[in-house]
Amino acid sequence: MQYSKKVLNRFMNPKNQGKMQNPDGFGTVGNPRCGDIMTVYIKVKKFKKEDIISDIKFETLGCAAAIATSSMVTEIAKGKSLDEAFKITRQDVADELEGLPPLKMHCSNLAEGALKRAIEDYRSKAGSKGKAPKKTAKTTAPRKKKK
Ligand code: FES
Repeated sequence: MQYSKKVLNRFMNPKNQGKMQNPDGFGTVGNPRCGDIMTVYIKVKKFKKEDIISDIKFETLGCAAAIATSSMVTEIAKGKSLDEAFKITRQDVADELEGLPPLKMHCSNLAEGALKRAIEDYRSKAGSKGKAPKKTAKTTAPRKKKK
């Protein structure tokens, strides 16, 4: 199996690897066929009314292609708005790596999937922030009768 120079480079020198403390969102996906697993963590900042991925990290237990695609998806997504990052596909990741062997294309599913889950996680948390708590039925103690 022939990997591109860029795949080998990112496998040997991955960018943005490691756990993030207090992420704003994170997502984990696994490949049931091979057992590989990947987690993406994101920090989000508002910039000109847009939610921007200001920092991103990954942890991957997997093959060379899984690690290279993990690195690349974080490199592509960093600095992008959540809407732009959500549109990143496994093909975008593979293209940035100058291609993946056909047998290894499925490895890039982890990268796309984990990033999307992290964004969804952030959105679900952000959606629940700042909302007024649901009103509950008032319970009042029965009035005492005047004597
Ligand atoms: Fe499992 Fe590559 S072989 S992700």
